[in-house]
Parts: sequence; C-alpha cells; structure tokens
Amino acid sequence: MLIINKISELQSQLQNERQKGHSIGLVPTMGALHEGHASLVRRSVSENDVTVVSIFLNPTQFNDKKDLERYPRTLEADCKLLEQCGAQIAFAPSVEEIYPEPDTRTFSYPPTDSVMEGAMRPGHFNGVCQIVSKLFSYTNPDRAYFGEKDYQQIAVIRRMVTDLGLKLIMVPCPVIREESGLAMSSRNTLLTDEERAIAANIYRVMKESLSLNAMVSETHDYVVDNINAIEGLEVQYFSIVDGDTLADITSWEDAESIVGCITVFCGSKPIRLIDHIRYK
Ligand code: PAF
Repeated sequence: MLIINKISELQSQLQNERQKGHSIGLVPTMGALHEGHASLVRRSVSENDVTVVSIFLNPTQFNDKKDLERYPRTLEADCKLLEQCGAQIAFAPSVEEIYPEPDTRTFSYPPTDSVMEGAMRPGHFNGVCQIVSKLFSYTNPDRAYFGEKDYQQIAVIRRMVTDLGLKLIMVPCPVIREESGLAMSSRNTLLTDEERAIAANIYRVMKESLSLNAMVSETHDYVVDNINAIEGLEVQYFSIVDGDTLADITSWEDAESIVGCITVFCGSKPIRLIDHIRYK
C-alpha cells in the first residue's frame, strides 16, 4: 500500500490508474479506524480496481476545539488495518497541504444541513463539504463510500454531489455495531468500559421503540424519557424525520422513508454519541 502525503503525488498516481482504465473508490476518513471503516474499505476494494482511503482530521468541521484536540490519532495502526483490508493508497496529508489558504467557500443545503447536527454544531457541515469536495476533486472517484452511522452527513453530501454535478456514485454502508448494539465510532475509545456498557442502551431503547405502535410524538418521548432515565446518559436531541430531506415529520404517513436520529451525551467527560434507527 502506498502512503501519500502530497496532493500532486496522489493526482499523478491516480492519473496512471485511469490511463490503465482502472476504476477508483474513495473512502474518506478522519483516522482512528475501526471495524466500521474496515467494512467500507473492504466494500470499496471489492467494487473498484483502486481504493484510496483518506486519513485527515479536518479542522474546519470541528466547531469545538476541545473535541478536535481529544480526537484519537492512530496513523500507524490505521495504515496497518488498511493494508490488511487491501487498500492500495492511504492519503494522509497535513493541514497545510489541504488548506494552504483558509477555505472561504460556503455550502448550504437546508434542511439537511441546518437541522440536528447542523443546529447543534454550527459550521460543521460546511467544513464537511469543504473537505469532501476537495477530496472528490483530487481523486475524481467512480464511487465514494460513507458509513450510514453519520446518517445526516450522507444526506448533506448527496445534496452537494447533485449541486456540483459530480458523476460519482455515493455508496452508503450499514452501521457496524459492537455485540452490545453500540454503533462503532472512533469516539467509543474515549469511553470507559462502564460507559461503553451504558451507551449500549441507546440502541436498545431505540430498537424497543420500533414495536410500540405509537404515534410519532409518543415514540419520540418514549426514546427520550427511557434514555434519560439511565444514569450517565443525556439525550441532546432525538428527531424523527423524513429519511431523504431530514425535515421533521408528525405522522408516519408524512414520508416514504422515516428515521429517528439521536445524539446522546455519555459519561462525565461527556462524550457525544450519535446513532439512528429506521422506522420506515
Ligand atoms: O465522517 C467522517 O469521518 C468525516 O466527516 C469525513 C467524511 C471523513 C470528512 O472529514
């Protein structure tokens, strides 16, 4: 596996591949890779001739400096895992390489980027669009792989792909869960064992809510009340929304696809965990 730090080197390597008629799969990551990422990489390897995995902790999507500072950094282990998964290229640039000048572009795709995470973390999705659009332009991938764990992120990036008229195929990949049901996340490594066990209740309660046969508002309250009742967990928001536009819904008939998106603070630090469940 090649480890590339420079954009120009990445581009000339990929130009060679294109000349050979090879297809390119891109898996954008911020490192601290786990089995969830590995599943995206394996999928890309099985569907493309060349898989590029970017490892870049993108500062422009963090509106909380502390969150950025404590984000786990595990480059060596990440590269080992990528090699095992069969990736051909790890692209691990510096911040200066990606942002030689501040990125002043703005992206706005309401309501996908203005609700939930967009409301709680102003500027977050603008930063995601800045980096992902750059990665798309460096690699010009045939397919790009994103974990459905960040459900809202996929909805926003889809809008950006349409807006920019990009030809690539977005490939959303299912959430990979620990045995307990906890959605795998790089942030899980910041939890103690006890907090990890407590965090598993988030998915358990959401799953229970699937069989309530209750109205949307009652289902919402069931999830929020039952998670908040567990010591060490505090729901920041739980929104039941149209699975495509992410607009709020009030009745199960309001949309063809419906998901519940949740963010929960866990433990004393606290660590912010996100997850979702599909109702329809
Ligand atoms: O999902 C992530 O890890 C990041 O938001 C992404 C897509 C790699 C952009 O920095």
